[in-house]
Amino acid sequence: MKYLLVLTVFSFFFYQVRALDLKLNGFNYDNRFDLKVNQSKTIKCDVVNNSNTETLIWYRGTQQVDIKPENSLNTSTVCLPAVAPDDNGISFTCLLKSDMTIKRSVQLNVLFEPILSGDTKTITQAGQNVQLTCGFKANPAVAMSWRQNDSIVSFPSRFEQSMSSNTWTLSITKVEMSDTANYTCVAVTASGNVTTLIFELIVGERQPGLPVEAIGGAVVVAFLIICFGLFARRQKIFKQCMKNKHNTAM
Ligand SMILES: *[C@@H]1O[C@H](CO)[C@@H](O)[C@H](O)[C@H]1NC(C)=O
Ligand SMILES: *[C@@H]1O[C@H](CO)[C@@H](O)[C@H](O)[C@H]1NC(C)=O
Ligand SMILES: *[C@@H]1O[C@H](CO)[C@@H](O)[C@H](O)[C@H]1NC(C)=O
Ligand SMILES: *[C@@H]1O[C@H](CO)[C@@H](O)[C@H](O)[C@H]1NC(C)=O
Repeated sequence: MKYLLVLTVFSFFFYQVRALDLKLNGFNYDNRFDLKVNQSKTIKCDVVNNSNTETLIWYRGTQQVDIKPENSLNTSTVCLPAVAPDDNGISFTCLLKSDMTIKRSVQLNVLFEPILSGDTKTITQAGQNVQLTCGFKANPAVAMSWRQNDSIVSFPSRFEQSMSSNTWTLSITKVEMSDTANYTCVAVTASGNVTTLIFELIVGERQPGLPVEAIGGAVVVAFLIICFGLFARRQKIFKQCMKNKHNTAM
């Protein structure tokens, strides 16, 4: 038992010292890099504890990165010229070609000012249901809210605010003409930076929908009945005349 323990400790020590490993920018563990948008970054992968020339390969997410063969032996670098908001969360992984279980990853944490988007003008009629959808991208996270005509208001129950992973929506049931206003989608970072996008909502008078058609239909039917009636009468009158004519002709 004692010997087994010694052996275990010894082999652990041996393993620690001799195992082939990879370092990314000097770190021998999976790491995260905080980057500002547009910043450039070089990621360097080094083989350690190797006795032979080892070939390295890279993945960006699930896609292999093309590198020059001379940039793959024992040490390899990839350069990111300017990180973009869409690079946030992407992982770069360096792997040993001869044993792909030996790998090291770094995840990009790209920090940027919140980006808001959406269809910023809505013209509708009273009685309709309306959704103002504010798309947002942010890192770090933001708190979202809506303002009406640049004021913080407590909206009536016809208004519902809802959040998904990348949209912040104001849904209004049966809009009224008095809801006409500028609705501001507001994103606030933990440090208090505010980003806004204004959605203009214009609610016109309710256009009578179905009633107009019903009335229209009734008018058409009535008109047809009258026409048909006249036509039938005319036929009768005509026949009468013909009869009379005939009679008179006789
Ligand atoms: C890679 O490293 C090993 C061990 O240090 C060394 O023997 C070999 O020459 C190196 N290969 C290249 C291409 O640098
Ligand atoms: C918002 O402002 C516009 C223009 O000043 C005004 O016509 C409208 O009534 C206001 N809406 C609300 C809900 O306060
Ligand atoms: C929204 O704001 C714009 C710009 O300030 C203004 O011209 C417009 O009248 C506003 N619309 C409403 C509905 O308040
Ligand atoms: C807040 O906004 C200012 C001006 O756009 C910017 O310079 C600053 O870096 C921002 N701060 C944070 C923490 O995002």
